[in-house]
Amino acid sequence: MSDATGPALLARIIAHRGASGDAPENTLAALSLAADHGASCVEIDVSISADGIPFVHHDDKLDRCTSGQGLLCEHSAAELDLLDAGKGMPGYSGEPLPRLTAVFDLLQARGLGLNLEIKPRKGLERETVDAICALVEERWPAHLPLVFSSFSWSSLAMARERLPDTPRGLLVGAIPDDWQALTDTYGCRNIHCDGASLTPQQTRELRQAGLGIYCYTVNDPEQAARLLGISGEQSAEHDATAGVHGIFTDYPKRLAEYLGT
Ligand code: G3P
Ligand code: MG
Repeated sequence: MSDATGPALLARIIAHRGASGDAPENTLAALSLAADHGASCVEIDVSISADGIPFVHHDDKLDRCTSGQGLLCEHSAAELDLLDAGKGMPGYSGEPLPRLTAVFDLLQARGLGLNLEIKPRKGLERETVDAICALVEERWPAHLPLVFSSFSWSSLAMARERLPDTPRGLLVGAIPDDWQALTDTYGCRNIHCDGASLTPQQTRELRQAGLGIYCYTVNDPEQAARLLGISGEQSAEHDATAGVHGIFTDYPKRLAEYLGT
């Protein structure tokens, strides 16, 4: 197991599913736009096709975000390659549903760090983690930050076995009472939580325990400032030891402009 401790730092502003407020979520276009908008780090969701190829997509089903129907995990990679993931956003028709390999290539080219959220279909945890870890070993550029996270904590345990040196974030909604035991159990240096329910007291306790704290999904600039511990004039009053380490947002440009970063 890795001996590394302390927060696994990503960035203060992380583009959630790419710049997904302005381009179709979890697509190459959204990730590229995040870089255009000044983001240095992105978050994506990853699951696998019927033949075990990792694809970047949030839902179990294809229907909401693509021209396909039914479960992603029941389609072959060749079938998924034909889908339109630009549906619903004008100007993005024909945007592919990206394979994780294509995303890694883009992130390397643009120099973007990554929070890779492992989103296995229930029952496919082992296959999903193995496929993702194989690709990370094969082609993730080691100089760029990479943190795994997952609501599927068993997947975090599997990722830890396979790639112990890739840091993990325990992904939760509200902070559970037993957060200390859970982060210990899964060897997590970070906790990634719902920003709507995180209290200042919890923030202090998590920081004192040496955890990195990242909050989703924060699109309101004032909420972002509160969570990051910024009050009033940022340059004068920002306490770098208070607040969370970063937030996930669908609008990285808007938040960076507000926060002055
Ligand atoms: O990883 C942060 C956030 O993406 C978790 O929720 O549903 O947007 O994947 P979700
Ligand atoms: Mg996610």
